[in-house]
Amino acid sequence: MTTTVTLTGAGGQIGYALLFRIAAGDMLGPDEKVRLRLLEIPAGIAAAEGAALELQDGAFGLLEHVEVTDDPAVGFDGADHALLVGARPRGPGMERGDLLAANGSIFGPQGAAIAAHAAPGVRVTVVGNPANTNALIAAAAADGVPAERFSALTRLDENRARGQLAAALNAPVADIAGVTIWGNHSATQFPDVARATVAGRPVWDALAEQTGDVRAWLDSTFIPRVAKRGAEIIQVRGSSSVASAANATIDHVRDGALGTGERRTSAAVISHGEYGVPEGLISSFPVRAVDGAWQIVEGLYPDDWARERIDRSVAELVEERDAVRALGLI
Ligand code: NAD
Ligand code: LMR
Repeated sequence: MTTTVTLTGAGGQIGYALLFRIAAGDMLGPDEKVRLRLLEIPAGIAAAEGAALELQDGAFGLLEHVEVTDDPAVGFDGADHALLVGARPRGPGMERGDLLAANGSIFGPQGAAIAAHAAPGVRVTVVGNPANTNALIAAAAADGVPAERFSALTRLDENRARGQLAAALNAPVADIAGVTIWGNHSATQFPDVARATVAGRPVWDALAEQTGDVRAWLDSTFIPRVAKRGAEIIQVRGSSSVASAANATIDHVRDGALGTGERRTSAAVISHGEYGVPEGLISSFPVRAVDGAWQIVEGLYPDDWARERIDRSVAELVEERDAVRALGLI
């Protein structure tokens, strides 16, 4: 089989970190051949063409074809997976929501082009920030494509949360499971460890031994560290995360395509009212992937303390939705 993958922003930083891993089979598995469509704006075409030359020089056995274009009709033609990365990154002192005015207008036309040209079963992953609301804009413009096929990346936040727990508990990161990111990919997100485990044991119990008051530690240390990690990276390296973002994108799309089994992960997907999140918002939830589709895992019953934090992030998503409505983007 051959899968067609469209990558927007292919000439940018994350694009460069993604392309070679996709070509190597890290995203869709070692047996799946890939056709790549690299969609850029004219200013990014030369960088994308350079990456295409290097893809050729990589002699990747799974890579059948690479096309570089600035025409969305060509870029999304036959796409089975569309990775919407192309968008401006934020700089120091900005919140991701500050990018709405600059980036929001990219996603409506791309949603429409996906509806017109992509494969009937297309799956769309939005990485460009603010990712949740950009996904909402793209889904709203993609007439005829079910909104359930759109997701936004919060896997980077989940991976960060697992990394922080591993460090705090002095445990291998591979032993940490069951962390959920709720809400927005922003500083209001709620990384939830209530059902997380370390080597099968509740993380909560292990944290209680280390910190005494788990909630106090979560509020003072863990939640801000995870939720503001993007800003920390920008401050330390001078520009926003790239390789970790590409890695999380690979994790997210691979799980979506190949399935998670019983394992839970996090993704921002359309709400049908689950956990009281207003219908139609693209919010991060606990999810599993079954037969190529994201499914929200229900019945986890957040307590009042968690509920308050989920509600805060969801309220920000409502504000972003209202803002893009006011801008005429949905
Ligand atoms: P970058 O500036 O290096 O690259 C962006 C690329 O997108 C550029 O080459 C640009 O020409 C291209 N582009 C702009 N508009 C386009 C359009 N309409 N169609 C196609 N291509 C277009 O930025 P980057 O570091 O690769 O980051 C890309 C985006 O990903 C940013 O918005 C960033 O904030 C976001 N991001 C999200 C996460 C996440 O977890 N969701 C993590 C890291 C970065
Ligand atoms: C991240 O989380 O690293 C990205 O969303 C980039 C950013 O602006 O923080």
